[in-house]
Amino acid sequence: MDLPRNAETIGENQPTVIWVEPRLGGPVSGDGIPPVDYLSWYVPRLQENRPHDLSQSGFSHSWDFDLEPEELLGFWKSGADPAQWVAERHGVDLNQVCIAHGTCQSLSLAILAALPEDGPRAVGVEMPSFAVVSQCARLLGCEVIPFHRGPNSGPWTLNRDEVMEILPKVGVIALTPVMNPTGEMISEEDQDWLIDVTTKAGVNIVSDEVYLDAAKGTEFYRPMYLRSKNSISVNSLTKTYGLGPLRFGWLIGAPEFIQNAKHAFQNMQGMASSPSVSIAGAVFPRLDQALDAIWVAREKNLPKLMEVLNAHGIEWVPPPFGIFGAFSIGTDAVQALADYGKPLGLLATPGGMFHAGLKDYLRIAWGGEEEAFEAAMPVLSQFLTSIQEGIA
Ligand SMILES: Cc1ncc(COP(=O)(O)O)c(C=O)c1O
Repeated sequence: MDLPRNAETIGENQPTVIWVEPRLGGPVSGDGIPPVDYLSWYVPRLQENRPHDLSQSGFSHSWDFDLEPEELLGFWKSGADPAQWVAERHGVDLNQVCIAHGTCQSLSLAILAALPEDGPRAVGVEMPSFAVVSQCARLLGCEVIPFHRGPNSGPWTLNRDEVMEILPKVGVIALTPVMNPTGEMISEEDQDWLIDVTTKAGVNIVSDEVYLDAAKGTEFYRPMYLRSKNSISVNSLTKTYGLGPLRFGWLIGAPEFIQNAKHAFQNMQGMASSPSVSIAGAVFPRLDQALDAIWVAREKNLPKLMEVLNAHGIEWVPPPFGIFGAFSIGTDAVQALADYGKPLGLLATPGGMFHAGLKDYLRIAWGGEEEAFEAAMPVLSQFLTSIQEGIA
């Protein structure tokens, strides 16, 4: 069979993966529930444990904690309130915080909480995006309608005409201020403009801020909950704090939204996992250690990446904070990773998983351990050489 160019057989007895950008559209259930193609592609490759892994958008940080089984399993008898830890860290009231299991779950809760009861059951979703952000509302019975920040509306600027066009049709706008896969923060002008037009239109904002804390202490740290009354910010310990497997996340917003989210959480989840919350409690007072370590990793690793890219004539300005970014490699990145990356033991993330217009982009993360990152650089260099020789 002739497979399309964006299809790839993973291995014997394994299905063929057809790569596509997030699948937008109407409400779904049953057989209509789409996969997250990025995860269908990524998880089997992660399981290969390739020696040079530049795919991790989560920071690599070693946490230690000393917890007995009774503490892990008995959190909810302790009387402590994890929402209080989040409220104190973010300088908000306790009734502005709802705890959940990671950003992914928080997104669904936030959309449900923010969707006006008497408004259209439709969500405007920013593209490019991680498919969970742009697809999950379909499972909540919503239609999802795209609007774009780049790649076709200038260098990562918001397509304001598109936003104005969809505002009368949606109840919520979902966006990721620090965009995955580019790591680019939305500009202050676009952010304030979006808050203004959505407020006037009676539309609420769900803001996925899972990468934003890496900007703390800089002018780029602009969480939505600090600037607007019509937003819910969602975040977790997954990315900037390097605790993805914990599934500990939260929502911050106006008390009325948060009350709705807590009700949604009770209906869909019941209670939060005691071991997750216990471990989160053990690291919460020390979270800034990870943010400091991100700047150190950036200082050590990023120049090495820039050296490799310069040597291959790839011109690129990395985002001003954080641990990943994406640039064009001049060819389909899924195919290049299959042809040249796999034999070299290299894993990185193809931009086309986030938007078809980014199919020639490769996302590289530099939040890994220094020695491993250094060892991966000659491999990345060989990968780029193979591509350039293949194109020539
Ligand atoms: C934009 C975005 N939001 C959320 C997540 C996942 O967050 P969590 O692990 O907290 O559910 C990811 C993971 O890649 C992401 O890119």
